[in-house]
Amino acid sequence: MSGHGKLYAIIAGSGFSGLGENSAPQQVDTDYGKPSSPVRQLDFSGRPVLYLARHGDRLNIPPHQINYRANLKALHRLGADRVISLNTVGTVHREHSPGQLAIPEQLLDYTWGRDHSYQSAEAAQLEHIDFTEPFDREMRSALLCAATAAGVDCHDGGIYAATQGPRLETSAEVDRLERDGASYIGMTAMPEAALAAELGMRYACLSLIVNFAAGRSETAIHEDIEGSTLNAKMQAFRVLRVFFQMDSGD
Ligand code: HPA
Repeated sequence: MSGHGKLYAIIAGSGFSGLGENSAPQQVDTDYGKPSSPVRQLDFSGRPVLYLARHGDRLNIPPHQINYRANLKALHRLGADRVISLNTVGTVHREHSPGQLAIPEQLLDYTWGRDHSYQSAEAAQLEHIDFTEPFDREMRSALLCAATAAGVDCHDGGIYAATQGPRLETSAEVDRLERDGASYIGMTAMPEAALAAELGMRYACLSLIVNFAAGRSETAIHEDIEGSTLNAKMQAFRVLRVFFQMDSGD
């Protein structure tokens, strides 16, 4: 599937389907096992873009059981050098609203027990990757430009806190995350972002704010999520369409 120039992959989270596809799903096996789903090839403005369903085609794989290493390895093997991560988040900030998008700039990792690295004692050489900027600056700004051009409400920056899940947080945990500086809470950007970095792939999140974090709203969290996910998803599709129209491809 790879050619010359850039090849983007989209890893999409809960509630994503219907982005369309133009090829047979490709089953990929890796040294780390099978990815969450077959890899599809989408067409954006005539450009091939790889697509992987992070939680599986049946959306049944919880965040702590996703084979992140196989997912990234499979996309890398098919030639992807850039990953756009679509993920849903809760927002810590009352001035945000569910249905809006965000492109976080920084990351805090509270996950544990996940296979989070390709490094091992068997590897020829131990490497400590530079992870100062976990999200690719160029891709972030291109996504923001696309959001502006598409007229989509999208927050620039903020800190994504990756929690273990699959349960949502207590309100005390959200208070702690806020004291740590977090703006958004999600369950999947880690170890995904770090594995992409280990493979030398650029990575950025287009995050869908689907609820206020625990204790931050009078509305029940699942009501927020049900009421906002479809809208956030439509906004994200619009951003992606414009993003690929604006991107040169080489
Ligand atoms: N917390 C963690 N992950 C999430 C949330 C949340 O509130 N909403 C969507 N993913």
